[in-house]
Amino acid sequence: MSSQAQDLQPYRHFTVNLLCGAGGAEISGVDASQPLGAEVMAELRRALADYCVLFFRDQTLTPAQQIAFARQFGALAETPFIQPLEGHPEMMRIVRERQETKKQNFGGRWHTDMTFSEAPVLGTCLYSRESPAVGGDTIWTNQMLAFDALSPGMQRTLEKLRVMHSARRSYGPKGTYADDDLKGMRINVSEIAERETAHPCVRTHPENGRSILFVNWVYAIRFEDMTEEESAPLLDFLNRHSQRPEFQIRFRWRAGSLALWDNRSTQHIAVNDYPGYRRVMDRLTIAGDKPFYRPQG
Ligand code: SIN
Repeated sequence: MSSQAQDLQPYRHFTVNLLCGAGGAEISGVDASQPLGAEVMAELRRALADYCVLFFRDQTLTPAQQIAFARQFGALAETPFIQPLEGHPEMMRIVRERQETKKQNFGGRWHTDMTFSEAPVLGTCLYSRESPAVGGDTIWTNQMLAFDALSPGMQRTLEKLRVMHSARRSYGPKGTYADDDLKGMRINVSEIAERETAHPCVRTHPENGRSILFVNWVYAIRFEDMTEEESAPLLDFLNRHSQRPEFQIRFRWRAGSLALWDNRSTQHIAVNDYPGYRRVMDRLTIAGDKPFYRPQG
């Protein structure tokens, strides 16, 4: 298994501190409220592809400044099914109130954002406005490492498969959020969530050419031309395999922390372990491409 801990190429415009063997780069020397030049952006894009998640501590951002920061990585995508922040149609505010007791928190199951779309988002930019004193971390998995660790036989099998993705289990009329009362958020369940979209089970990272195991618990519901029941054993294995500790990147938020993750090569989960605390995050997503697979070599 190749490790993310090896610094692939030096960075000239900022300092990189890796959080875990699986990746996660804390970037120092970048003020996200200011426009960044072409050279800085080229290095940030490279770091994002190699380390999966970039973290910027102690940033002071208005919604407009966060939007301007994220737009430097590409056009923004709107998030279906969720009421945006007033005045900012691209932005979603994730709020969990102090008194909420519901077991399910928003983002509290392993997933990759919006893989039910024809062109799932390239990345997600999340900014902490209010963080619990204890808990409320986010954990990501590095799906490039997850693919590399599979046996050659399994890799060859998966390379030929396509997976059907759907928002049904979350936002459909019988989905998780249909009878949910996430107090701080407005979620619109809809029949539209029943739609399915096919993506390759293994996708190629368009920037570094690496193979990515492209499945997730929430939206990848079955293999193409197979039933959900037939697909479940292998999908469950692949998801459990993806969550192995050595593929994980865990981040402890503080108010003012900004994260940008590569949604092409990760799954993530918002840990639900902070009863009695309020947590407020502003989220943007960056439009992506249709996934494709080209064997490495
Ligand atoms: C998300 O799943 O998009 C949100 C993650 C988080 O709130 O930590």
